[in-house]
Amino acid sequence: MFNFLSRPTGSTENHDENSGKVIALMNQKGGVGKTTMAFNLAHAFAHKGKKVLCLDMDPQSNFSSLFGFESEDNYHIHHLLINSIKELKALHTNVMPHDVIKTYTTSAGMSIDLLPSGQELSGFELTVAGINAPRQLILKRFIEKYNLRSQYDVIVIDGPPTLGLLVVNILCACDGVLYPFVPDRFSEQGLKNILQVVDDIDEMGITSVPKNLGYIPNLFDSRRKQAGSDLEMIRETLGEAVVFEPFTNKVQFGKSLAGRKSVFDYKSAEYKDLQTQFTKMVDSVSQELRS
Ligand SMILES: Nc1ncnc2c1ncn2[C@@H]1O[C@H](COP(=O)(O)OP(=O)(O)OP(=O)(O)O)[C@@H](O)[C@H]1O
Ligand SMILES: [Mg+2]
Repeated sequence: MFNFLSRPTGSTENHDENSGKVIALMNQKGGVGKTTMAFNLAHAFAHKGKKVLCLDMDPQSNFSSLFGFESEDNYHIHHLLINSIKELKALHTNVMPHDVIKTYTTSAGMSIDLLPSGQELSGFELTVAGINAPRQLILKRFIEKYNLRSQYDVIVIDGPPTLGLLVVNILCACDGVLYPFVPDRFSEQGLKNILQVVDDIDEMGITSVPKNLGYIPNLFDSRRKQAGSDLEMIRETLGEAVVFEPFTNKVQFGKSLAGRKSVFDYKSAEYKDLQTQFTKMVDSVSQELRS
């Protein structure tokens, strides 16, 4: 069963209180709601008046698509990361972050920036395989080089459903991680694996590990007889980290995402509960990042 009590909780002590925070939605398992949560959480931060950058680190680029971004023929994060590596000069392209970052205005009038991804990002690990610079810190150094923290209150990273160098780069670059998961016994391994990577980074000592900002039970099947006791059991084994109120299977997600909208883009009552859930998540994340 789940047993994550001994995991390092991480710390944000190395980061300036006043600089923007970098948070990531991670789980090695696919389809657990990483992108859905990242998109709505970013909107929730924007509704709190925060300046938000959404950073898509998944080559599937679902996060980017939700903003209407088409990666075909467009520069994206992969090109910027490669440009930031001196040793790969032969592969450099003539683009800067401000050429790649797009600003979107939501139907509720909020402004959110997107640093999109694209298919080329799937070749990242291979492309950087031979460099001498620390390959785990490419994203962290990119964020530092372009002072992205000072330009945003929060940078929300959507992670890929893999392990490997992209995931290590995300974990080394962020202050905190949220772990969406489907609370059934099949999800155990995906969560365990990603938490093992956090442990490995801690052991390597190359940078401070991100803080565990909490687990997000998603697609919780409240009608299933065992659901309540399963969740309770999981809650007990997740240690001290926050476990958020579960998200059940909501048609509102399907409807809103199909229209490239967040739950905050609707005024009708059926979206109110979800808006409240994400607003509470923002409050909790903000508090965790301060402590
Ligand atoms: N609580 C929910 N209710 C209904 N549908 C949901 C819910 N959470 C996620 N979904 C839907 O499930 C699908 C998978 O979600 P999502 O893309 O966010 O997962 P993911 O973890 O990002 O997947 P991947 O690992 O492939 O990137 C999407 O179609 C999404 O709209
Ligand atoms: Mg996704």
